[in-house]
Order: sequence, then C-alpha cells, then structure tokens
Amino acid sequence: MRRITLLHKESLEDIFAVEADSFTLPWTREMLNAEFLKSYAFFLGIFDEERLAGFSLNWVLFEEGHIADFAVLPEYRRQGLGGSLLDASLQEMSRRGAGVVHLEVRKSNVSALALYASRGFERAGIRPRYYTDTGEDALLMQLILETKDNDDIIHHIREDANDSGPKQRC
Ligand SMILES: CC(C)(COP(=O)(O)OP(=O)(O)OC[C@H]1O[C@@H](n2cnc3c(N)ncnc32)[C@H](O)[C@@H]1OP(=O)(O)O)[C@@H](O)C(=O)NCCC(=O)NCCS
Repeated sequence: MRRITLLHKESLEDIFAVEADSFTLPWTREMLNAEFLKSYAFFLGIFDEERLAGFSLNWVLFEEGHIADFAVLPEYRRQGLGGSLLDASLQEMSRRGAGVVHLEVRKSNVSALALYASRGFERAGIRPRYYTDTGEDALLMQLILETKDNDDIIHHIREDANDSGPKQRC
C-alpha cells in the first residue's frame, strides 16, 4: 500500500538514502537536516508499505512555492509515484497559500522535464552554469496554480512548526 505523508526529522536517514541514490551532486545530511528548522519548508514522502520510496522538499514564501528537491528511488520509478508525489506537493503548497510554483531542473534531465511538463510546468527562464559539478545550465520552470479545491490526495497530513530562510536547487 502506498501513502503520502509529511516527513519529520526521524526520516532524515531515509531521505538521505533516496537523495544519495538519485543525484550526482546530492544534498548532504546537514543540508537536509537544516530544512527541518525552516518555517516555510516541508518534506512530503511517498511510502511503499514502511519504505520511503520518494520525497519532495517544498518551500512556500508568501504566494510563491518552490520545489527545492524531488526524487524517487530508482527501483520505484516509472510506476506513477513521482506524479502522485508532485500532485500532493502542489496541493499542499496551494493549501499553504502558493499561487505560483517554481523549480530548477538540469537541461539534460529528460525524465524530470517530462514529469513537470505532464503537470503543466512551463519554461520560465534559464540559470547559466547552475550546477557546480558539470557547469550545466538549469531551466527555471513555472506553474501557475489554479485556485480550486483539489481532491484529498495527501493522507495523514500533520501540521508542524519549523523556522528560518531559503537556499536553492533541485
Ligand atoms: C524525475 C523522477 C522523480 C520521476 O519519478 P517517477 O516516479 O519515475 O515518475 P512517474 O512514474 O510518476 O512518471 C510520471 C510521468 O513523468 C514522465 N517520465 C518519468 N520518467 C520518465 C522517463 N524516464 N522518460 C520519459 N518520461 C518520463 C512521464 O510523462 C510519466 O508518465 P507516464 O509514465 O504515464 O508516461 C525520477 O526519475 C527521479 O527521481 N529522478 C532522479 C532525481 C531527479 O532528477 N529529480 C528531479 C530533480 S529536478
């Protein structure tokens, strides 16, 4: 059984495992841990039974949402988990007041670009040499959120308080 829920500090090691398995330039544990202290940041996780199969890290500052990090474990890809997690992340950002959502993605990241396009994200700009490992450009993607009630995709959402200010990259 699959479920999507807010993640808390006790999931840090599992988040890091997904992160390390997904990126050539992964966030460190310390970077991920710092996100739990920020009032505008929240993690959502998608579970297969008790296993964390993917997560999103999202920020909402006033009416602007940002997907800062997003990944699904390799063995769970192309099964719809990323799409479900993205839908839930957008729904929760909208609920927290976001009217627009941005994210950065590598120009060469075909799967992520296809996923974001499938949800209506459009190219809004380019960030030259954004990724420090290869010097690759990032595409800045944008989605205007519709102001309507979404179906209840997120289960077991609990509000939690955190505090502090932004950083970057997906
Ligand atoms: C991008 C990522 C999160 C997608 O997760 P996923 O669980 O495989 O996504 P889904 O199965 O829900 O796919 C949803 C849609 O995205 C597109 N898509 C996903 N992977 C794709 C691929 N390899 N090639 C082409 N399209 C792809 C398709 O439109 C797909 O719909 P479909 O399966 O009905 O054709 C996953 O590939 C991943 O974690 N990659 C490494 C980390 C990363 O790049 N994160 C994004 C950083 S910005």
